[in-house]
Amino acid sequence: MLVALTPEKQEEMLSAARAAFKNAHAPYSNFKVGSTILTERGALYHGCNVENASYGLTICAERNAIFAAVAAEGSAMRIKAVAVATERDGPCAPCGACRQVIFEFGPDALVLFRGQSGTEQMEITQLLPEGFRL
Ligand code: THU
Repeated sequence: MLVALTPEKQEEMLSAARAAFKNAHAPYSNFKVGSTILTERGALYHGCNVENASYGLTICAERNAIFAAVAAEGSAMRIKAVAVATERDGPCAPCGACRQVIFEFGPDALVLFRGQSGTEQMEITQLLPEGFRL
C-alpha cells in the first residue's frame, strides 16, 4: 500500500525531527540526529541519537523514536512514515540497522530524509530490499 503525506504533514514531521536533534547526546561524533515517527494511529513519536563512551552502545535517533512508539502503543504499533533530520547540512539516510527496524514495524513505511540534493522520500522497501522476516 503506497503511503502519501500532505506537504503540511511532511513539514510537520521534518520540523519535529529538527526539534528532536536538539536533545541528542553526541559528544563523540558531534553528529546530532533527530527522528519523528508517524504511526497508523496518527500519533507522532520522537527520538534523538544517544552515544556512549563505549561507542558500540550508541543508539540512533530512528530506533529511539521507534522504541518510544512501541512503548506507548505496544507491539501492534505500525509505522506510517519516518522523518530524519540532522544538525549539520548534508545527506543522512537511515543506517542499515535502522532500516531493518523500520521494516519490522512498517513494511510500507515512507521515509523522509536529506539526500544528495535536498529532502527525499523513499519507501522502506526501496531503502531495504529483501528485509529480513522471521
Ligand atoms: N546516526 C543516527 O542517529 N541515525 C542515522 O541515520 C545515522 C547515524 C547517529 C549514530 C551516531 O551517534 C552518529 O549518528 C554518527 O554515526
